Amino acid sequence: MSNNLHDPFGRKITYLRLSLTDRCDLRCFYCMSENMVFLPKKELLTLEELATLTDAFIDRGVRKIRLTGGEPLVRKGFMTLVHHLSTHLEAGRIDEITLTTNATQLSKYAHQLKSAGVARINVSLDTLNPLKFTHITRGGNLAQVLSGIDAAQSAGLKVKINAVALKQDNADDIPKMIAWAHARDIDITLIEVMPMGDEINRFDQYIPLTAIRDALEKNWTLSESGHNTGGPARYVNIKETGGRLGFISPLSHNFCASCNRVRVTCTGKLFMCLGQNDQADLRDAIRSGSPRALDHILDDAISRKPEKHNFDIKESKTSGQMPRHMSVTGG
Ligand code: GTP
Ligand code: 5AD
Ligand code: SF4
Repeated sequence: MSNNLHDPFGRKITYLRLSLTDRCDLRCFYCMSENMVFLPKKELLTLEELATLTDAFIDRGVRKIRLTGGEPLVRKGFMTLVHHLSTHLEAGRIDEITLTTNATQLSKYAHQLKSAGVARINVSLDTLNPLKFTHITRGGNLAQVLSGIDAAQSAGLKVKINAVALKQDNADDIPKMIAWAHARDIDITLIEVMPMGDEINRFDQYIPLTAIRDALEKNWTLSESGHNTGGPARYVNIKETGGRLGFISPLSHNFCASCNRVRVTCTGKLFMCLGQNDQADLRDAIRSGSPRALDHILDDAISRKPEKHNFDIKESKTSGQMPRHMSVTGG
């Protein structure tokens, strides 16, 4: 009998997003507070424990693993975990190892990632304007990120840009970013800002992607694309640029009905939904060395997977907000 993980809504859990660290070398204002307090290193699961954890999920039917953070590439020794996952990839036990990164460390790691079987990566980048970049990331250097993207493409990694649409800070620049990405054979996905973290009334930042799409259609021809990466993005092709554009619209178009994923933090907390608080602690079960104990917690946790998030951002009221920062679970 299959021991795959199914939730009460008939959704099969095939996608694990694993955060390697809560730390990041940038401080994007929609993701972290300015004076973020990070976890003491001793609280983190070791890389061996993270490997045990991934194995348990793979045994239960997970086929896609995305490494997140914070910034996954600032976790010391993270390549040992990537190499561990490569053995599963080579054996056909999983379909994909990928990661979501801010690209600052890619010049150093792109080749190693490619050699280990990573085929494509998502790079979080919200603007091509160096001053705006420094503002959004509270101090980041755009040139370093662009070099990282160059290194990734030279190494043969397929790059997708993820840009959070921000009413005041980048909405006007989005067409320029799309044209830039498509000219470099890079897909780009836009994301609606979600009410997470301490500054949870994000009305000043939120712009629905429906508004951005309407504006783009004044100049470009958008047609629905059947492209599907197993994530929540819905894609269109743009005739004039010849490239693909994704929309991740948790607020204006809920996609929870097809949810196939769960998240685990670097301390071993399993979040069954990005937009809800319920969690299960896997750490003790991993440390006990008992696969049965871990399986039991996984079954119990997945039986509680929420149907959907309740995020909503309106001038009159923001609701469904999560006090946890996005950097805890990596988005
Ligand atoms: P691929 O399809 O694998 O390329 O990934 P993706 O397009 O889903 O992108 P990625 O996994 O990097 O996620 C980008 C962002 O989308 C995240 O940082 C979140 O902001 C948002 N997102 C991803 N998954 C979910 C989800 O399950 N629920 C919600 N509400 N938002 C999500
Ligand atoms: N709303 C939407 N996306 C967010 N991210 C971080 N914080 C938020 C938020 N409040 C995204 C980043 C990146 C990923 C790690 O999470 O843009 O793509
Ligand atoms: Fe799944 Fe929750 Fe994301 Fe909806 S908000 S897609 S239920 S993780």
